[in-house]
Amino acid sequence: MKVRDLYKVISKAISTVSPEAEAEAKWIVEELFGKKFEYLFVENPSVGQLIDRANEIVRKRVSERIPLQYLFKKAFFYGFELYVDERVLIPRSDTEVIVDYVLETFKERDLTWLDLGTGSGAIALALDKFLKGTGFASDVSMEAISVANVNANKYGARFMLIVANLFSPFKDSSFDLIVSNPPYIAEAEKGALSPEVLFEPPSALLGGKEGFEFTETMLLEAQRILVRGGSIIIETSPECYEKLKKTGVVKSYILVKEIYDLSGELRGLHLLRSF
Ligand SMILES: C[S@@+](CC[C@H](N)C(=O)[O-])C[C@H]1O[C@@H](n2cnc3c(N)ncnc32)[C@H](O)[C@@H]1O
Repeated sequence: MKVRDLYKVISKAISTVSPEAEAEAKWIVEELFGKKFEYLFVENPSVGQLIDRANEIVRKRVSERIPLQYLFKKAFFYGFELYVDERVLIPRSDTEVIVDYVLETFKERDLTWLDLGTGSGAIALALDKFLKGTGFASDVSMEAISVANVNANKYGARFMLIVANLFSPFKDSSFDLIVSNPPYIAEAEKGALSPEVLFEPPSALLGGKEGFEFTETMLLEAQRILVRGGSIIIETSPECYEKLKKTGVVKSYILVKEIYDLSGELRGLHLLRSF
């Protein structure tokens, strides 16, 4: 069998479980051969003994529903190739919208910043590369911090990694900027999640009974460790935002910006601690 045929077979198999079947098939072929898909498509080499490995990957992806990021132990975020495994959330392109906003808003400022709930370190790596100042990245999960440490070392990042429940170790008025992609899925929605998402750590997904509770607590506690006039920029969902508005916690801040993606979906909020 040649590569182009293999690509078609894999695409078809994966289309039964994923809307991104072609992209996934390209990625599998690239990983198998260790070469770019465009090159392989033109050269169209024989698959040979790699067929066994291809079958194994497709079986794990289609029958077991394991995401490719966990099979290949890598994910791409904001131009970084990150090590990931089941100890951390797979970073999402939605979160890049938040990073874009943070970098546009704060790029020339000298800041002390925190990425709360850093997971693989995805957000922190982008802030570290493109912002001035001093950075911290924290997570309640020791295992997540181990993964973030791998990625921070890979890219020679300067931020400090800390295992912490919310803001417990931080002194009052420590930060000019907090960025966070908190867990915000409601417990009741767990049953509706795709099998792939269930491979991710529950603590990275579930934000409480109704989903907004973790974010509410985080916003309440962030007031203490932000300087006056400091910013907190969070990822959230439209549903979670509606619930947060009802609690009044959003009103305890100045709302600077609702952050939308290109399709017009609300992705995040920029809130300011008042002076
Ligand atoms: C949605 S994931 C975000 C991971 C990463 N920042 C990203 O965007 O890919 C949420 C993260 O918050 C962490 N987390 C959950 N509860 C926490 C807590 N009480 N304090 C600090 N981090 C927490 C989880 O371990 C998880 O890594």
